[in-house]
Amino acid sequence: MKLVMLGAPGAGKGSQAITLSEKLNIPHISTGDIFRANIKEGTPLGVKAKEFIDKGELVPDELVTDLVVDRVGKDDCKNGYILDGFPRTIPQARDLKKALEDKAMKIDFAINLLVDDDVIVGRMGGRRACLNCGATYHIVNMPPKKEGICDHCGERLVLRDDDKPETVKNRLTVYHEKTQPLIDFYKEEGCLVDIDGTKAPDEVFKDITRAIGV
Ligand code: AP5
Ligand code: MG
Repeated sequence: MKLVMLGAPGAGKGSQAITLSEKLNIPHISTGDIFRANIKEGTPLGVKAKEFIDKGELVPDELVTDLVVDRVGKDDCKNGYILDGFPRTIPQARDLKKALEDKAMKIDFAINLLVDDDVIVGRMGGRRACLNCGATYHIVNMPPKKEGICDHCGERLVLRDDDKPETVKNRLTVYHEKTQPLIDFYKEEGCLVDIDGTKAPDEVFKDITRAIGV
C-alpha cells in the first residue's frame, strides 16, 4: 500500500506514520527526517537544506523530488511505503504522479490530518524529537517512557531548531500557501481521506486504519 500523509506542520503526520509503518510493515519515508539526518552529518545536501528549514521555508523542489523518487524505487519499498512530508507542493505531487505512472503505479490513499492552527502552536512547543530514528514525543500528550530519552533507540531527545514560535508561524503560512492545495489535488485523484487529527493519538490511528481498510 502506498500512502501519503498530508497535514499542517505538527498535525501528527510523523507520529501516525511511525505506527502505521509498524502495523503494515512498510517503510516510513520522512523528507524532514532525511534532511535533519543530513544536517546532523554536515553533508552538502544538509548544508543547503538547513538554510531553508531554519527559516521555516520549503527546501527547493529540485533538491527533494529526485531524492524521494529514488528512495521509493528501493527494494524495501516493493510492498509499499508511507510518505511523510512529501509531496509538499503541486510540482512535487505532479512529478511523483508521473514517476509512479511510468511504472504503472499510483498512490492508494492520501491521509489528510485536520488540525487547526491554534492547536498546532500549542503542540510544537512541547514536542521533543529523536534525530537518530525520527520518533516524536510530546512532553504532555505523548511523553517517552524515560524523560528525555527515545523509547525506540535510546538516543537523547531534542527540541527541533524549527520549533521556535516565530518559525512555526512561518511554517504554517508556507503550509497554507504551498501545501494545502494538495488537498484538492488528491481529492481529484480520488484517494483523499480526511481524518480529524485533534483526537487522542490512538483514536486518530483507529480512524485512519478504518478509513483505509487495514
Ligand atoms: P517536516 O519534518 O516534514 O516537518 P512538518 O511538516 O513541519 O511536520 P512536523 O514534523 O513538524 O509535524 P508532524 O505532522 O510530523 O507532527 P508530529 O507527529 O511530529 O519538515 C521540516 C522542514 O523540512 C520543512 O519546514 C521544510 O523546510 C523541509 N521539508 C521537508 N519536506 C519537504 C518537501 N517535501 N519539500 C520542501 N521542503 C521540505 O506531531 C507534532 C507534535 O504533536 C508532537 O509533539 C506529537 O507528540 C504531538 N501529537 C501528535 N499527534 C497528536 C495528537 N493526536 N494529540 C496530541 N498531540 C499530538
Ligand atoms: Mg514530522
